[in-house]
Amino acid sequence: MTASVRTAIFPVAGLGTRFLPATKATPKELLPVIDTPLIQFAIDEARDAGVERMIFVTHPSKSAIERYVMDDVRLRTELQAKGKPKLAAELLSASLSPTSDDVVFAMQDEPLGLGHAVLCAQYHVLPGPVAVILPDDLILGRGCIGEMIAAYEKAGRGHLVATMTVAPEETDKYGILSVTSGTGALLRENGMVEKPSLKEAPSNDAVVGRYVLDGSIFDDLRSQPPGAGGEIQLTDAIAAGAGRVGLCGYRFSGTRFDCGSKAGLFRASLHLAGQDPELAQVLDEVSARRGPAKAA
Ligand code: UTP
Repeated sequence: MTASVRTAIFPVAGLGTRFLPATKATPKELLPVIDTPLIQFAIDEARDAGVERMIFVTHPSKSAIERYVMDDVRLRTELQAKGKPKLAAELLSASLSPTSDDVVFAMQDEPLGLGHAVLCAQYHVLPGPVAVILPDDLILGRGCIGEMIAAYEKAGRGHLVATMTVAPEETDKYGILSVTSGTGALLRENGMVEKPSLKEAPSNDAVVGRYVLDGSIFDDLRSQPPGAGGEIQLTDAIAAGAGRVGLCGYRFSGTRFDCGSKAGLFRASLHLAGQDPELAQVLDEVSARRGPAKAA
């Protein structure tokens, strides 16, 4: 029998140092792509996938995340009174409600790593496998975590990680999978290596920020010593359990933007601007001013 994926964990407690000084007062996960904060894309993806409980692992200094995520009745009432019912309705449908959504905010008091952040959700998860979504990995398209949950529920058990092919010189920025077999979207793996050099990389299949993990991940996280950068690494715990529960990679269909980096967030903004008639015109004006693109 296949277990269903009922919980999504959003680790959002990191320091966001690559975006300082912006992230001194604004959490990285609330940085907008045009007018939509990164966390909103992640919530919508989880909601579309039909998960029951959403757990945000956050930090006391990032209370703006909770304020953003939850419904703001006072703001909506003011918008209604000012004759902006459409905007009020849009805010309501984007938000989570304490009376109709199953939402938990768990605290990670120290940024001890992504694996540690996921571990901080352990007492709040519903039974069975869990989905993990990193909001700074923006994946536009058909709902990556929904595709992965559907594939996972067919495959049955183990760990499933989102993967995409990266350029050989980029393997040292990612966890890299060691592929044993598979065609199409689902690849069987026998392990993964964290940030290998070009020479050591077993493939070009990089792990990006969507996971569906067997519930035993919490046992492996509890026994994980600090890894790269002195942090408890999620990839180490996945690799530790891979031999026991199985590991697959999932080639998702959407387009991924690394919004944990300035270039990635900028690219995502340009991508969405190109789809908005008013902003696309601005892009045209800017490129006309810059003249023909230089050959690379
Ligand atoms: P990153 O490593 O990209 O985020 O983690 P960061 O550490 O906040 O950013 P930089 O590198 O300093 O700029 C990916 C996701 O994991 C969360 C982050 O909030 C982000 O959503 N995270 C990371 C935690 O929740 N806790 C941690 O200890 C580390």
